[in-house]
Amino acid sequence: MKRIILTSLLFFCFAELNAAEGGPCKDYGECDQFKPALNDIASLQSGASVFLNYCYGCHSLKFSRWNRVAADLEIPESLFFENLVFDSTIKPGDLMVGSMPSDSANWFGVEPPDLTLVTRYKGDDWVYSYLRAYYEDSSKVYGVNNLVYPGTAMPNVLEKLQGNQILSCKDVPVLASNGGEKRDEYGNTITKQKCGYLKVKDGTGELSKEEFDSMIYDLTNFLVYVGEPARADRERIGWYVVFFFIIFTALSALLYREYAKDYH
Ligand code: HEC
Repeated sequence: MKRIILTSLLFFCFAELNAAEGGPCKDYGECDQFKPALNDIASLQSGASVFLNYCYGCHSLKFSRWNRVAADLEIPESLFFENLVFDSTIKPGDLMVGSMPSDSANWFGVEPPDLTLVTRYKGDDWVYSYLRAYYEDSSKVYGVNNLVYPGTAMPNVLEKLQGNQILSCKDVPVLASNGGEKRDEYGNTITKQKCGYLKVKDGTGELSKEEFDSMIYDLTNFLVYVGEPARADRERIGWYVVFFFIIFTALSALLYREYAKDYH
């Protein structure tokens, strides 16, 4: 009994500590929710293409092999190697160890981490929010900062596509104590200025907000796939297993009834 009380006390202490630390997405507030679609091959293919074009120069995926990714994403190997692999010395069975020399920590202050498992330890919500939360900040080395990862050493490599994102302010309604909007005596809503909203300056990016978000969706989806390539299979087989247990339980119940008839 004592042990149970102790464990539950410990559990609550830890839960408290976690809550006190602030959300995982820091200044961004709640992370945007991400729901992977691992059976959407087109999305995974587009994510892989973005990754190899924009990220692989710095980040490795060293627990993945080229030919496994090509096979899982249903891209014929010849096509894959012609269009997405930019180094002709790479063989299909090689690990995706990246193209960064090992002294790259000197360039950024930190070495760009391997991203094979990033959605597993940071969370897919985190990655999806992080890649969309860069904003202009002239006090930083690269002229940008990030709401989700303040002071990140990674430059905003997708700025050309997204455009110049800034922190802006907008007028929001003041809420009354009953939860409704506060109004003045003429019935106009009372507003106050709140800042810290991300906004892309019009016409500065090659993609619209929707196109950019959808590109980051595909990219994050690909990183979720890389984090556990067998996940789609696992989830599919899981349903068969559950289905099997239901049938098996029904059969065992019938069998039990049959046996129980002999007990008296
Ligand atoms: C110019 C090199 C460079 C490029 C290109 C680059 N990154 Fe990074 N990235 C970094 C560095 C350096 C860090 C470490 C940042 C830190 O810890 O302050 C980082 C960190 C990250 C992290 C956080 C990982 C962690 O464990 O904290 C993610 C996620 C990430 N990058 C994703 C991407 C994606 C996706 C792309 C392609 C769109 C990309 N990066 C392109 C240099 C780069």
